[in-house]
Amino acid sequence: MKMQEIAHKRDISESVKRKDHDEKVAGRIEYVGDIQPENVLVGKLLRSTLAHGRIKAIHLPPIPEECRIIQASDIPGKNVVTILADDQPIFADQEVQYIGEPILMVVGPTEEQLMQILSQIKVDYEPLPSVLSLEAAIHIGASCVMESYSYGLSEKEMENEINNASRVLKEQFETGYQEHIYLEPQGMIGYWDGKTMLIDGSMQCPYYVKNAVAMALGCQSDAVRIRQTPTGGGFGGKEDFPSMMACQVAVASKVIGTPVRMVFNRREDMSVTTKRHPSHMTYRTCLNKAQEIEAMEIVIYLDGGANLGLSSVVLQRALINATGVYRYNKLRVKGYVMRTNTVPNGAFRGFGAPQSYSGIEAHMGHIADYLDQDGLTFKRKYFVKQGDATSTGGRYRDPILIDTMLEQMLVDIDYKELNKANKRFNQQNKRYKRGLGFSFFAHGCGFTGSGERDHIKAQVRLEKKASDEVIIRIANTEMGQGLLTTMSKIVGDVLEIPYDSIGYPNPDTEIVPDSGPTVASRTTMIVGRLLEQAAIELKQLWQEGKAIEVIKDYEHFEAIPWDEATFHGDAYPAYSWGINMAHVQVDTLTGVTELLDVFGYYDIGKAIDERIIRGQIEGGMTQGLAFGYMERMTSREGAIEQVTISDYAPPTAVDVVPIHSKLFDNPYANGPYGAKGAGELMLVGGAPAVFAAIESAIDKPFSCIPLTPEIIVAGMKTKEKEGTAHESMH
Ligand code: MTE
Ligand code: MOS
Repeated sequence: MKMQEIAHKRDISESVKRKDHDEKVAGRIEYVGDIQPENVLVGKLLRSTLAHGRIKAIHLPPIPEECRIIQASDIPGKNVVTILADDQPIFADQEVQYIGEPILMVVGPTEEQLMQILSQIKVDYEPLPSVLSLEAAIHIGASCVMESYSYGLSEKEMENEINNASRVLKEQFETGYQEHIYLEPQGMIGYWDGKTMLIDGSMQCPYYVKNAVAMALGCQSDAVRIRQTPTGGGFGGKEDFPSMMACQVAVASKVIGTPVRMVFNRREDMSVTTKRHPSHMTYRTCLNKAQEIEAMEIVIYLDGGANLGLSSVVLQRALINATGVYRYNKLRVKGYVMRTNTVPNGAFRGFGAPQSYSGIEAHMGHIADYLDQDGLTFKRKYFVKQGDATSTGGRYRDPILIDTMLEQMLVDIDYKELNKANKRFNQQNKRYKRGLGFSFFAHGCGFTGSGERDHIKAQVRLEKKASDEVIIRIANTEMGQGLLTTMSKIVGDVLEIPYDSIGYPNPDTEIVPDSGPTVASRTTMIVGRLLEQAAIELKQLWQEGKAIEVIKDYEHFEAIPWDEATFHGDAYPAYSWGINMAHVQVDTLTGVTELLDVFGYYDIGKAIDERIIRGQIEGGMTQGLAFGYMERMTSREGAIEQVTISDYAPPTAVDVVPIHSKLFDNPYANGPYGAKGAGELMLVGGAPAVFAAIESAIDKPFSCIPLTPEIIVAGMKTKEKEGTAHESMH
């Protein structure tokens, strides 16, 4: 076989120009909002204005001939989008469960006309009691619980630990909503040609959308075809939500017979799409006479919103990560998804782990403060090590580098000097105070438990054309994380052909096999691995001028089988690790926090393309830091209050400082070229690091994120230790 000579075999991590670079930088790429199909009509949803109630009657104004109303009775199949349960109606026809829930769609030539019609529709409701906050749901208890899990010690065993402990420290921690703010709001177009339903749209999971649409239309799945349009960011927000929109435009387009497009503006997107689950966590930590942690109880409540969506699996990840990167001898972990009459919450980069890490990092810091010990030294004592059991009785089989990474970071930032400088600064300044904060975290790569084996069953296909061109056929989507480039590099490197001669068109379910959704940072490690194996096989079969196809199916690797009923075993095949440091200056008069310096060190196995990973680090850390001190989203009487970017104020260029990052090679045997997952890890440590930095700067304890100026100013007035880890009566 004759392959093109490559001058020198480069390390795969060496960066190349991204495949999508030119068309994105030139602004040539067409997003769903740019596509103008012939005869396309616009769809706009009538949404519930009540948090909970029965629909008694809908009064429609006269509808002009060129417009149509599409409602539940038009759905040929089932009026439901199944995520994990059958609880999300496509159009609510009997009961509304949250403000913003879709009731019907008006379809017509222009948005202005539709707004006019929508403003004249009157819905009569019979109000029902509503639960409008996580606090209220926790207070009500059992009837609001949608899902719960627990593992570790039984309640009785835990009470025993508490009774026998030398001291028990209790604390609560809360985290708020977070909004994805992908640059491109959600959008879908449906086309019905009399036989097949074609959907074009912005999405992470083409096959999820396909299954949902087939169920809504009550048709065979081969009568539904889904094509991903260039996706301007997803961050988890386009994991489940697009299925609902796709069903709505599919039904409309099938009934009317013309293409129907629905593209949200920012306000609509922020008001009704899924968000990060607000959480409420409680810790009870038993210390022995030697002031060591003997046992810990962690209880996590997530606000699921009005229906389950993906919340059970978000809760699973939150619970498995509840102990952070620490090892405790005895543990009891419990968690609940609570139903509230608010917008359903869903996937968001980190998937439950950012909540857990924010809580456990704060709690560990507070225990150290309570014991008057140095926080870093204290945390290090409990770091998990290779060979240790995981929180769920699995095993950390691979080397763990967090301690090495920390050593390196302490040298790089000149820790002792920096601390001294901060002390000096704080003595000399009354108004401005400086502090450092660290966070330690891991991310289990891929689906939790046996998801890959039982539910996803990924398949990939590599096509070599007679022209010797090679095409990647997978269902995974580029959404900024660099997939087009990294997948092509893996295949090109194995085949020893130039990477730009590899084709990887956006997925079209008519052509690509189901390689699974683009979530859980699974694509490089799981799908990339399958492509690597396919490429190895293709290399052996290679014949110039001949068309060849190679298909690879997922094979499950599992040492300690995962049991979802008992939460026991290896929850993940591998873990990526990170440590963050934030150096901040807090204005104690205004409560405004300014970042001075940020460090992020990571072990993601092996970077397939270093520049792409730096991009993930910069974007992920910025998103994570903002979750800790800037991005505050609230709901009031059941409606989201911040529905524009200026209300929500995510970080902009003025808020970000250069991020110092380092990657530590630690190749994983079952990842392509040693790669593990990277996409979500980068977000997880941001909030706990900036939280710790703010606490250290002003020497006050807090028990929630985000630490906005208002909370910091209020916190300045609290007495020390109040509200955080404190000794309980028992
Ligand atoms: N990076 C960019 N630029 N845009 C995104 O939408 N999504 C994140 C992460 N990084 C995202 C991103 C999320 S939530 C996940 S799960 C992973 O990318 C998914 O991609 P991967 O499997 O290729 O890591
Ligand atoms: Mo990412 S939250 O798994 O889409």
